[in-house]
Amino acid sequence: MTDYSPSHAELSAGAPLWLLAELTYRCPLQCPYCSNPLDFAAQDHELTTQEWIDVLHQARAMGAVQMGFSGGEPLVRKDLEELVAEARQLGFYTNLITSGLGLDEARIQALRNAGLDHIQISLQAADSDMAGALAGSSKAHARKLAMARAVKDAGYPMVLNVVLHRHNIDQIDRIIELCVELGADAVELANCQLYGWAHLNRTGLLPSKAQLDAAEAATERWRERLAGEGNDMRLLFVVPDYYAERPKACMGGWGAIFMTVTPDGTVLPCHSARDLPMTFPTVREQALRSIWYDSFAFNRFRGEAWMPAPCRSCDERHKDYGGCRCQAFLLTGDPAATDPVCALSPDHGLIETAREEAAQDVRSVAQLTPRNARESKVFCRA
Ligand code: SF4
Ligand code: FES
Repeated sequence: MTDYSPSHAELSAGAPLWLLAELTYRCPLQCPYCSNPLDFAAQDHELTTQEWIDVLHQARAMGAVQMGFSGGEPLVRKDLEELVAEARQLGFYTNLITSGLGLDEARIQALRNAGLDHIQISLQAADSDMAGALAGSSKAHARKLAMARAVKDAGYPMVLNVVLHRHNIDQIDRIIELCVELGADAVELANCQLYGWAHLNRTGLLPSKAQLDAAEAATERWRERLAGEGNDMRLLFVVPDYYAERPKACMGGWGAIFMTVTPDGTVLPCHSARDLPMTFPTVREQALRSIWYDSFAFNRFRGEAWMPAPCRSCDERHKDYGGCRCQAFLLTGDPAATDPVCALSPDHGLIETAREEAAQDVRSVAQLTPRNARESKVFCRA
């Protein structure tokens, strides 16, 4: 008789709640702060529509309830509407994370008909000159603004995301003003997290403490002003890790609630884990349930048993889970180290050094390394 009782691993690990489907690494833009892996050009064997549908079924059967579609630019996939419809029909809450490029009124309507719940559009800057320099496209900014309006006209809340760094953070007032003009409902002012291409360019992206403080103060002034005007647009300001005293609870803990499936079917506990010196399983060879509960990769940093000192005996380990494994690896070369962002880490000096190096880096936007397939091929050979 078949034994359907849960395995030991299933009893000790909770179910994944959130699935991020990175449908493709293809993207028409070239932002130097992209978090995609440096060697994305080598990952060109994308899952088919049917393979994605199978992934959705498996994830939902495991208990996942929230689905993000991202990339690259997910709109590059012509089957996006079909995948959204399938996810919705399975009962997922669905979110599209997009640059807005590849969107038009007809496609917004098609996504609406498919049942898409939520759209988030990213902006690069307050004006098209800066946005164009960052994205490598002089036309993208105007297109994004038009699509933000079209999304709202279609009945969606307008949710905008602006990645902040030293080259656009001083525009904060104009950025927020633009979002008000557009009629945004919520704006995420997210200081760039330093993974992938952003880590490659990190000393040329990290803002100074003075820039950061000024931007945070400006955001607070706008919150007060908007409240006084009865405008309920929400402003979320995300501080960069390199200026924090404690690390973030990355992904809510390794293998705790989140998994991402990359374009070629590799399954990761976070969007940047592909850069770690580990092998991750793929849905082309293993069932999602077995990957989540039984694979070495998902169990490697699950829970607390793996933690080194000082995390092992720290009262805050239940709050931040020792921080981010990818950040620990990028900074120390050891994915099992305490995240150096933590002021208690023996490697915290690396963060201070990075800030000092950033202060000496005078590169313009044009001198940063853009994320594109040609640059990526350099890392594929390494
Ligand atoms: Fe978190 Fe570890 Fe720092 Fe404690 S020592 S606050 S658990 S990162
Ligand atoms: Fe990978 Fe934080 S981004 S663990």
